[in-house]
Amino acid sequence: MTQVTHRSHWTNRWTFILATAGSAIGLGNIWKFPYMTGVNGGSAFVLVFLACIALVGIPLMMCEIMLGRRAQRNPVDGMLALAAEANAAGIWKWVGIMGLIAGLLILGFYSVIAGWILDYVVRAASGMFKGMDGKLAQEHFAAFLATPLELILWHTLFIAMTMGVVARGVNAGLEQANKILMPALFAILLVLLGYSMAVGNFADSARFMFTPDFSKVTPGAVLSALGHAFFSLSLGMGAVMVYGSYLQPHISIARTTMYVAIADTAVGLLVGLAIFSLVFANGLEPAAGPGLIFQTLPIAFGSMPAGSLMGTLFFVLVAFAAWTSAISLVEPAIAWITENTPITRKRAALMIAMVDWLLGIAVVLSFNEWKDVKLLFGLNIFDTLDKLTTNIMLPLGGLLMAIFAGWVMQTRHVREELGIAVRAYALWRFTIRFISPLAIVAIFLYLFGLIK
Ligand code: TRP
Repeated sequence: MTQVTHRSHWTNRWTFILATAGSAIGLGNIWKFPYMTGVNGGSAFVLVFLACIALVGIPLMMCEIMLGRRAQRNPVDGMLALAAEANAAGIWKWVGIMGLIAGLLILGFYSVIAGWILDYVVRAASGMFKGMDGKLAQEHFAAFLATPLELILWHTLFIAMTMGVVARGVNAGLEQANKILMPALFAILLVLLGYSMAVGNFADSARFMFTPDFSKVTPGAVLSALGHAFFSLSLGMGAVMVYGSYLQPHISIARTTMYVAIADTAVGLLVGLAIFSLVFANGLEPAAGPGLIFQTLPIAFGSMPAGSLMGTLFFVLVAFAAWTSAISLVEPAIAWITENTPITRKRAALMIAMVDWLLGIAVVLSFNEWKDVKLLFGLNIFDTLDKLTTNIMLPLGGLLMAIFAGWVMQTRHVREELGIAVRAYALWRFTIRFISPLAIVAIFLYLFGLIK
């Protein structure tokens, strides 16, 4: 395949692992996973989610990195080049196009929630959590959601932070920051976990998350678990593909995938355990929805020694986790623009910033003024963007990538790129050709009520 010249690459495999883990670990783990678990009945959701990570997420992450590294281009032109190499139709580029759009749609709400995190940094630092109980935490959060202007300002700041980094390129400073911040996040998480084990209701939390109760497995919960596996691992939209396109040839895709998947899953599970032990100890509602962590964590930080400091640190780190994820949401679009037009990275970042800024304003309003505005499936603006991307666009993108790698590309090329042992390759190939696509299709059909 002809190679595109002047592409930047990661310095070594660790910076790639960190950047990909930085993309994967974000609000999905800390904000979304706990509340989705709560809304979807606890353990049923967790167990199906873990199955989706193993059967679909891990093989597909290998697949997406492989596609990106072979193509050495942005996802749209990358799919086009790979299709040409396999003598397949150019229509495959639509996988890339759908991905770019999904990334912009996701950032539209991601940035609003990240804005909430930024606000909670200030709250924690100003000692507002001291002596906080469940009722007060709920009231504060409700009052916060009712002030659109404040929400918009924080959202604007987060968009500016994201685009500021993206404009500078896949930045060595950020790679460097990740090296310190990701382990720090992990350490604080362990402190939080220790605290919630000591004062929270840890037994109920573990029971809620891990006792298998398959009577609670509803079609909706299964689809949400699949969608969240994609969301949490950043799969199905070309984010991992574009990161893979900056990867040097000799690095093991299988091994890096395992590191990222394990770290990502562990962070979700640990945060979930900590949150639910506080939920049960404080008589809060597990199914509170998107506000869950904002109504529980202040209680923990409000009564823990050095809570203001710990709380500040925690929310700062969550903001960083969100930041390193947001960058990967727009990188495919930025790469596509800069590789196809004379527009500079800075300009491209500015253009996308405008789109997502406007989208975010609509999302902010869907929590207050436009609460009753319904879009698709009778959902409000925030829920529509979330469900459309997470439950439909990402799994669909993943399905098409799996079909492409498993059935369209030449086996020789795939093997060459993955470079794994014969047995492992056979297992991966079987999964990517049959298990992952069938799982996704079955879940889609199940949801739409075609099979019972
Ligand atoms: N994985 C991130 C999180 O869990 C969000 C994210 C970043 C993402 N890039 C993505 C989700 C690409 C889907 C696709 O917070």
